[in-house]
Parts: sequence; C-alpha cells; structure tokens
Amino acid sequence: MSFTFRALARSIVATAFLFSSYSFADSNASYPEGWETWPVVKESMNLPADTVLPPDTSLFIQESVRAYSWINNGNGSPLTIRVNPEKLEQYKTHGPYSDGPTVVAVSEVQGIVWVTEHIGGVAIYGSYDRQGKDITSMHPTLEPSFCQNCHTTYKDICINGTCAEPVLQVYGSK
Ligand code: HEC
Repeated sequence: MSFTFRALARSIVATAFLFSSYSFADSNASYPEGWETWPVVKESMNLPADTVLPPDTSLFIQESVRAYSWINNGNGSPLTIRVNPEKLEQYKTHGPYSDGPTVVAVSEVQGIVWVTEHIGGVAIYGSYDRQGKDITSMHPTLEPSFCQNCHTTYKDICINGTCAEPVLQVYGSK
C-alpha cells in the first residue's frame, strides 16, 4: 500500500517536472552578467492591481498595468530600468541597436529581471531571477511571445523594441 502510494507520488512529481520544463517557451534573450552596475535611466513602477486609471488612459497603458498586476501579489513594485553602458546613446533614440544585451527592467520586490537583447536589429526577450535562473515558466506573461505583444506590436510607442521614455537628466552630463 505504502509502496503503491510512493510510486504514484513519484510519477506525479515526474509529470510535474515534465510539465514545468516543456510546456513553456524559454527566454530568447540571454542573461546579461553584470547588469547590476549598468547605469539607471529610469525609476518606474509595476502598478498595484487595484490601481484606478483615468478613463482616458490609452489602451497600451491599460494593458501594461493589467498584464503585470500579479507582481508582488498585486501590491506593485518599483521597477528600475538599466541600460548596457555601451548602448546608452542608442537607447536615447530608441536605436537602431547593435547586437548584444541592450536593457534590463528589474521588478525590485519580486526580483524579476526582464531582458531585451538585439540580434541583427531584431529585439528578443527574456525573464530571469537575480541569480540568472530562467523564470519564464513562473507566469504566462513572462513568455517571450507575450513580451512581443507589446514591445514589437505597439510600434508607435515601442520603437525598435524599447518602450520607455528615458529620463533625460541621466544624459545631462553627456
Ligand atoms: C502589456 C505591455 C507590455 C508587455 C507584455 C511587456 N512590456 Fe516591457 N515594457 C512595457 C512598457 C510600457 C515599458 C515602459 C515602462 C516605463 O516606462 O515605466 C516597458 C519596459 C521594458 C523594459 C525597459 C526598456 C524599455 O524601454 O523597453 C524592458 C527591458 C522590458 N520592458 C522587457 C520586457 C520583457 C522581457 C517582457 C516579457 C517578459 C515585457 N517587457 C513585456 C510594456 C510591456
């Protein structure tokens, strides 16, 4: 009896493992070592789930708030945007971007590192924890195809795959 139970438990664990490793696409962008020291271009927010947006809020912003309202159990989180120092000038003009990791957005409370990288001018996306572990399977909104829904589809706002308006003081000394 106990043997049967253990065998069953083992097969459930094995099934859960298969599910978690194969049912979600992994990150396309690679984890950029050393992002912690990249210059901060913007301090922003993942807004809490109960945020009431003004009625004239654009569909794009509404979708952005709704998509990540699960972050930090719906309580929101500061979001820090850091740019690869070699691409600071490119980021200022939303590209065009050279190859390699471009920019990270770090959801501070939850510890999610969103990565946008460029290859041949095309933006690719990834989601990692602070230790560099791929966490795409944590939530459907972390899949690269979901990132594209905004970053590649809203071409009037997200140019060459980057969406934020950088805070220009960062560039003041340049
Ligand atoms: C629902 C729309 C939406 C989706 C989906 C989305 N983003 Fe974003 N993303 C934004 C917006 C809006 C900003 C700008 C935030 C700001 O300025 O405060 C942004 C900013 C970023 C930045 C900072 C650089 C920049 O200017 O673009 C990175 C990096 C980023 N997102 C990566 C990702 C990744 C990786 C995914 C998928 C896991 C993703 N995003 C999914 C809307 C979205």
